[in-house]
Amino acid sequence: MAHKPWLQGVGLLVLCLLTRQTMTSAQQLAPNLLPIPAKLQTGTGSLRVDAAFSVALTGHSEPRLDRSVERFLHQLALQTALPLAAKPANTPKATLVIHTDHASKEVQELGEDESYVLEVTSTGAKLTAPTALGTMHGLQTFLQLVDVSTDGFAAPAVTIQDQPRFPWRGMMIDSARHFTPLEVIKRNLDGMEAVKMNVFHWHLSENQGFRMESKKFPKLHEMGSDGLFYTQDEVRDLIAYARDRGIRVVPEFDMPGHATAWFVGHPELASGKGPYEIERKWGIFDPAMDPTNERVYKLLDELIAEMAKVFPDHFFHIGGDEVNGKEWEANPKIQAFMKSHGIKNNEGLQAYFSERVQKLVTKHGKTVVGWDEVLVPGVPKDIVIQSWRGQASLAQAAKQGYRGILSNGYYLDLGWSAARHYAVDPMSGDAANLTPEEKQHILGGESCMWAEYVNAENIDSRIWPRNAAIAERFWSPEDVRDPASMYARLDFIGARLEWLGLTHKSYYHKMLQRIVGPASPQELSALRTLTDQVEPVKDYTREQTAPAQPTSATPLNRVVDAVPLESDAGRHFGELVDQYLASSCHDAAAEARLRTQLTAWRDNDAKLQALEQRSYLVKDVAATSQDLSALGAAGLAALDAIAKGQTASDAWKSQQLAVIEQAKKPKAQLLLTPAAGVQKLVEAASPGGACFAAKP
Ligand code: ACM
Repeated sequence: MAHKPWLQGVGLLVLCLLTRQTMTSAQQLAPNLLPIPAKLQTGTGSLRVDAAFSVALTGHSEPRLDRSVERFLHQLALQTALPLAAKPANTPKATLVIHTDHASKEVQELGEDESYVLEVTSTGAKLTAPTALGTMHGLQTFLQLVDVSTDGFAAPAVTIQDQPRFPWRGMMIDSARHFTPLEVIKRNLDGMEAVKMNVFHWHLSENQGFRMESKKFPKLHEMGSDGLFYTQDEVRDLIAYARDRGIRVVPEFDMPGHATAWFVGHPELASGKGPYEIERKWGIFDPAMDPTNERVYKLLDELIAEMAKVFPDHFFHIGGDEVNGKEWEANPKIQAFMKSHGIKNNEGLQAYFSERVQKLVTKHGKTVVGWDEVLVPGVPKDIVIQSWRGQASLAQAAKQGYRGILSNGYYLDLGWSAARHYAVDPMSGDAANLTPEEKQHILGGESCMWAEYVNAENIDSRIWPRNAAIAERFWSPEDVRDPASMYARLDFIGARLEWLGLTHKSYYHKMLQRIVGPASPQELSALRTLTDQVEPVKDYTREQTAPAQPTSATPLNRVVDAVPLESDAGRHFGELVDQYLASSCHDAAAEARLRTQLTAWRDNDAKLQALEQRSYLVKDVAATSQDLSALGAAGLAALDAIAKGQTASDAWKSQQLAVIEQAKKPKAQLLLTPAAGVQKLVEAASPGGACFAAKP
């Protein structure tokens, strides 16, 4: 066929319009659903949800299903405040009739059928699923459908046929750098269930802590955890809790690096002389296991055997990341071993170690998962690669026949916006060029919550609601990718998650309250005017910009620890500026709203002065507060110039840009989100700027 680029262009345009339409209708049809289901058709009318609402379970039965309906009813009661029955009614006349076809696997497996069909009509609802996994997902969808309406609570009439895009939809929590109390993990498992994530990857050992009880080697947790570890009974209970929510639990014991805490009780495992202490700082450190020492494999054999019994999942994560090799290079015995075994470099030595450990893991009935450093020539084919250093390793792994999951782009601790995470797709980048067979090797992905700067108080806010956007990426069809729709639904789901016991919204007020101490409501409100407009510095700059070397003993009580990682107010201000500029500065309503906001900022610093004298935690943000006021003044000056219909001078522009540059410099490890929007206003008001160029 002759190549007609223009025709292709038309085709693309039509495709774009169609896609756009599909996305818009998905959003309109299911305004509250996150993740968006694979297929959705609207019906007419809606199903009333009142105090008479009841549920019946038919088909396959198991206690887990009864419990999931009880949780469903509890959650529905919280959402609606209706006095609902606490248990399934089990009459054929029930409002929601659930049919589960057969049992799922005793130990949840990768790739089990998680599909369901949910039909809601004005007279009743029916949920059918092959297994309990689909039933549980369908119940979550129903909960999201129920909303307040003009004459009571109701779920719209819909038919949903749903199944996940990827079988591995995970979240990792690092419980080692800061210990994560069990109730915190449980409420995050509740959140995962709500957005249909199905793997909890538990990072249990690190330089800073060995968090798992070992009955076989008690010195590991006794000497390596400051008493902050999980007992085996607690872990079994947590695994049951996760199973009840359709979630697998994959443990990670990170080795041969990131293992200093092991060496406190077992220095014989290390490549250096020791003695070792629990690491208190953050970063990459020298201590590493000695791959040439048979005692290492003996202990690992017994430890993996023990842990393989506690963790029933078929996968077992052995870490493998960030070994700097310094202890290996400094140890003559290790160097001699490498020479005699023809091992050329540290990478080769790590490959030797990984292969030995992989054999042990296999011997105990599990499949290895490792960070992408373990992908070296010759590594056994059944290993699963977790791609974190870049997306390319995922495609490389798949090309070579390895299964992989993507975490690069999903690091929650880096402070990216939900939209930025949402734009990352496991099948994008190099993976887009894989053959269909190679693509089959990509199992999905995992978000990662590394815990240098999180504790029980603020961790939920570092995970939610952004993690829900990542969950949608893993569940929904690839063409579900409109960030505006995602943000609208994220707000809604975010509010719902608080009912599950997550604290990602409520923590904020509490932390600000501590920061101000006994203050008037006006003062608290002034601090909030400032803090709503800031975000913590991004990526790894938190470490680099710290006022003093951060350690596990550093309190997480500053404004940088209290503010959400993504500022909703900042995003909304940026949208308002864009709306105003898109009208060539004629949108009077947008201008009025901008003025209100900018005026509040300009006048805010004065309101914080007294508080700064009383609280060192407020004083910490004094310079940021001045910057926000300066931004307010600069924005107002730009609007005044535009209103006068006079281009501001070049000199004025330079002056304002200098103010904005100053405001853009991070202070107290915070970024002022409105700086970019105010800069747009100043440029629009300047010679050649958008407002004047477009005026008649
Ligand atoms: C990692 O972030 N070191 C896996």
